[in-house]
Amino acid sequence: MPLPLHAMKITFCCTGTKAEPWLQGLSAALPGADISVWQPGAPQADYAVVWAPPQQFMDEQAGLKALFNIGAGVDALLKLRLPPDTLVVRLDDAGMAVQMAEYVSHAVIRHFREFDGYEADMATGRWGYRKPRLRSDYPIGVMGLGVLGERVAKALAQFDFPINGWSRSAKAIDGVRAFTGTEQFNEFLAASRVLVNLLPLTPDTADVINKETLARLQPGAYVINVARGAHLVDEDLLAAIDSGHVAGATLDVFRTEPLPAGHAFWNHPRITITPHTSARTLREESIAQIARKMAALQRGEAVAGIVNPARGY
Ligand code: NAP
Ligand code: GLV
Repeated sequence: MPLPLHAMKITFCCTGTKAEPWLQGLSAALPGADISVWQPGAPQADYAVVWAPPQQFMDEQAGLKALFNIGAGVDALLKLRLPPDTLVVRLDDAGMAVQMAEYVSHAVIRHFREFDGYEADMATGRWGYRKPRLRSDYPIGVMGLGVLGERVAKALAQFDFPINGWSRSAKAIDGVRAFTGTEQFNEFLAASRVLVNLLPLTPDTADVINKETLARLQPGAYVINVARGAHLVDEDLLAAIDSGHVAGATLDVFRTEPLPAGHAFWNHPRITITPHTSARTLREESIAQIARKMAALQRGEAVAGIVNPARGY
């Protein structure tokens, strides 16, 4: 027999996040639910809202029905020992897809239209035209065609770039040439000049942007990494830029965050960096989604965004 909503116990354990506005929003969305910030030794809750919780939290809250991660990526969460019967639910868009589409479109267009070059010209008082580039010379490959990757691929298709997409299972997306699985990975790379990474970080995808994959991209390649830093082998990117095969990169995520002082990416003239901000968790949208899903689970209904721990995403 499911608990009535007002009897639900919710614990909040989000490292580096101000708890008060989340508690207020969750209380407003789930009137009567008992919602509090987790403390060691706190009683067992029914549901948890988490970001990077400590292992002690998992060990103590072993009877949770579901854990709601306030991000799309669950790589950090899945490194912990999780209770076997607890559902892990990740954020499913909640306002992130449009942000990611904006960010990646901006990075592609900035590179393609050479706005970085014009900015440099402005700084030196130079009025100089650059030869228009052909879109057909800039096919874009989007790795990962999930909630975020599909939205990004469709946004880029609006600008008439040739779009390739790569995923584990077969897809049919208007305007996207879809490649599937490891068998078609090399073909996908060879068909792409701009590489956009929107894969989850799993044992299968770690280090996926490396010496070999970069070499398979079309000459004058451009890399946009907005997924996780551990997808990219930093020194392989630097060497590929030095060789001239890769023209540059826009990077939002790094192996160590914040990016350590002195790292070569900080001052590289061909690399643009941002501080893991391409698609931020939006509190209101996220609370609304989490509250809706908790209520659905309480009623015994299915919800989207359930993570398969064996698959890693
Ligand atoms: P998602 O919906 O789970 O989509 C993941 C996609 O990757 C799916 O299309 C999946 O294929 C594909 N994939 C997974 N493993 C693969 C493999 N081994 N080979 C080929 N394709 C594979 O995830 P999402 O919501 O789009 O988010 C993607 C990632 O973006 C997150 O995991 C997170 O790391 C990152 N992210 C970054 C930021 C930021 O601010 N920088 C913000 C949010 C998210 P199938 O469709 O066949 O399953
Ligand atoms: C951010 O990186 C997320 O995974 O939501």
